[in-house]
Amino acid sequence: MSRLIITEAAPLKGKVRISGAKNSVLPIIAASLLAEGESTIEEIPYLNDVRIMCDLLSYIGAGVEFLDNRSKLRIIPGSVSCSTAPYELVNKMRASFLIMGPLLTKTGIARVPLPGGCAIGSRPVDLHLKGFLAMGAEIKQEHGLIEARVRGRLKGAKIYLDFPSVGATENILMAAVLADGVTTIENAAIEPEIVDLATYLTSMGADIKGAGTDTIRICGVSSLKGSSHSIIPDRIEAGTYMIAAAITQGDVVLENVVPDHLKPVSAKLREIGVEVSEELTSIHVRSSGKLNAVDVKTLPYPGFPTDMQAQVTALLSRARGTSIVTETIFENRFMHVGELKRMGANIKIEGRSAIVEGREKLTGALVKATDLRAGAALILAGLCAEGKTEISDIEHIDRGYVRIDEKLRALGAKIERVEEE
Ligand code: EPZ
Repeated sequence: MSRLIITEAAPLKGKVRISGAKNSVLPIIAASLLAEGESTIEEIPYLNDVRIMCDLLSYIGAGVEFLDNRSKLRIIPGSVSCSTAPYELVNKMRASFLIMGPLLTKTGIARVPLPGGCAIGSRPVDLHLKGFLAMGAEIKQEHGLIEARVRGRLKGAKIYLDFPSVGATENILMAAVLADGVTTIENAAIEPEIVDLATYLTSMGADIKGAGTDTIRICGVSSLKGSSHSIIPDRIEAGTYMIAAAITQGDVVLENVVPDHLKPVSAKLREIGVEVSEELTSIHVRSSGKLNAVDVKTLPYPGFPTDMQAQVTALLSRARGTSIVTETIFENRFMHVGELKRMGANIKIEGRSAIVEGREKLTGALVKATDLRAGAALILAGLCAEGKTEISDIEHIDRGYVRIDEKLRALGAKIERVEEE
């Protein structure tokens, strides 16, 4: 286990390059199984979660190789030799469930342990299974395993998602591209990561219309070929560094971003009083330190992203006045509040909202990362807290941020990673 030690720094200044999107590369690695041949994927963020997904593909028989200083992946689907995903891998990362659609389509059978809940919520998969059932799969659950079977090919179907679930949209999309007939996904998720997955599948020969809208129409084809693809930049990593600049009264340029994907975050930061200007593939963030209290409500894209909620709560802990942060996506995504309060933040939780009374200053403390984005929020608070902040359980943070301590140090932050014996 290692820790991060952060001491209050001068305003962050300089340039930071954003890595490929974790929430795009994970489904795309799973989707590569659908091809008859080899795929090459670039802009790979070398994260713990990516390694787990690669281990999963290797376990079921695919060939997986990191190239070019691990920024590129070569995947040879080969003949999938095993249709069961191992508990020890699925249990480490919920996104492993995204292997279900490709496995079911490729082999006619998929056995995946039911992913447990996590710090932020129960994380059900009922919408994923509803899609597979509609396409003719038989589903059974026993001994903690979900087994899906289909004789021959899945059939195209009309599927309405009760909630625009990102994972369910991705899993059903991957199951539909080789199905017999046309599948329509209504009330589909429209996040940029869905569009990135559809772009990769289309480059393999899939027939997909409407990705990025709430109705996606997929006409099943008989086979898909390997392809090459470059992962979109990570809009949540980018948003996190935008707030790092804002919370330290900094002046930072983020390179390798898609400003359009960050519209809800940029709009909210401008409302808070942060200067945000955009170029084609970069964003410039400056802050005078005067932060206005605002209200934030997380919503499916293009609303304010739930994955930025903890980070903006840390920023609003320093704003002048009272802010209300409402989390509508996950039922338990305020684990960072208790830890921020240990640093002097004045936050009260009422139902699905956090009432944040801004404070002049926060003070460093011993705190714990309870989940990925909560850990990021603690780093942001530590950057502007008086004294020293020590964050434990930072393996959560390493799941979603490539070399976050190195990138912040390059911007002037005083942050060290200490390996615990
Ligand atoms: C993806 O999770 C992301 N993870 C999450 O990012 C992100 O927070 C989330 O989408 C929302 O944007 C990856 O892409 C790997 P959902 P996912 O299915 O697909 C309910 C991060 O920090 N739901 O859109 O699991 C569910 O309970 C992570 O990078 C059902 O009810 O999210 C939740 O309330 C955290 N039934 C809501 O939908 C289902 O079958 C959103 O879940 C599926 C979901």
